[in-house]
Amino acid sequence: MPIVAPSLLASNFLILGEECKMVNESEADWFHLDVMDGRFVPNISFGLPVIEKIRTVAQKPCDVHLMVEEPERYAADFRNAGADHLIVHLEACPHLHRNIQQIKSLGMKAGVAINPHTPVQMLQDILQDIDIVLVMSVNPGFGGQQFIPHTLQKIKLLRQRIDQLGLGALIEVDGGVNLQNAKMIIDAGAHVLVAGNTIFSATDPASVIHQLKHIQ
Ligand code: DX5
Ligand code: ZN
Repeated sequence: MPIVAPSLLASNFLILGEECKMVNESEADWFHLDVMDGRFVPNISFGLPVIEKIRTVAQKPCDVHLMVEEPERYAADFRNAGADHLIVHLEACPHLHRNIQQIKSLGMKAGVAINPHTPVQMLQDILQDIDIVLVMSVNPGFGGQQFIPHTLQKIKLLRQRIDQLGLGALIEVDGGVNLQNAKMIIDAGAHVLVAGNTIFSATDPASVIHQLKHIQ
């Protein structure tokens, strides 16, 4: 059964409290929170004060996906705002190993995200140090985009590598996940499905979460 992480980026911010309540009461496992700085990605989303508020009501781990440059400047702030997992982009981190150690020393689970063009081989010398690999299946910056099919090959390769080495890193897939492609993504080896629009644009979001959990 996959871990399901609804991306609040696609929620209705006017009723964020109710959206959080829906996630709490659903079969979802994590809250996925997308932070964008308008530099690493061409969009700005939400930041620390919003996450701080979400944390006061969230009854599940907060999986914070940083699409920002120089994430090391903010790691402690995100921990203080309540992040349980902090995911940084490989492409934004020339000192990735140091960044991962920092996140872990702050007491959070550490994740590395890779863009669609970044080969999974680039993770070779960091895989043993991380809790989560986030494989972007769209170009980061916006919700509601189409899943890039080549991602499936990347997931397969990564899963083989993780299993061969006996590592515990979870593979999280983010972007364009829906009820049609979820099975292929899980079969390729993903452990975690992030879904934004598929969940929050539905008339019954909790039922979509249920379907993602029980996909076969
Ligand atoms: C995209 C974000 C995703 C996004 C997914 O940059 O990282 O988490 O919210 O949204 P959907 O599921 O709508 O593609
Ligand atoms: Zn994300």
